[in-house]
Amino acid sequence: VTEPIALNSVLARIDQLWSPRVVARVNDYDVRIAKVGGAYTWHVHADTDEFFLVLDGILHLALREDTAGGRVERAVVLGPGEVYVVPAGTGHRPSAPDGASILMFEPAGTAPAGSVSAAAPSRADRGPR
Ligand code: NI
Repeated sequence: VTEPIALNSVLARIDQLWSPRVVARVNDYDVRIAKVGGAYTWHVHADTDEFFLVLDGILHLALREDTAGGRVERAVVLGPGEVYVVPAGTGHRPSAPDGASILMFEPAGTAPAGSVSAAAPSRADRGPR
């Protein structure tokens, strides 16, 4: 039996930043939500795109993109209701100076910090991205 999940209720129970909770599984993808604040580390997901939806607050994504002219660093800023997909292989560093709540969609078992941290979140109530 599956019951509806109130994201705000889950968020209210999260007391750690950058520590996503899995709220749903879609085929072999996890839907995760997290509270974030300050800056996360630069990292890369070599094998998967990463989907971000901002639920509340402002999320900054610093990006290192390889272009014909070389590697370019830029940033995108996402407000509530805005989505962005970081392509596989693109270095990125999420940050939220004033705090934010975000939703991520990615293959189950994807490590939060990509190639920086080899450790994947262990299970259903795991501690991001
Ligand atoms: Ni990432």
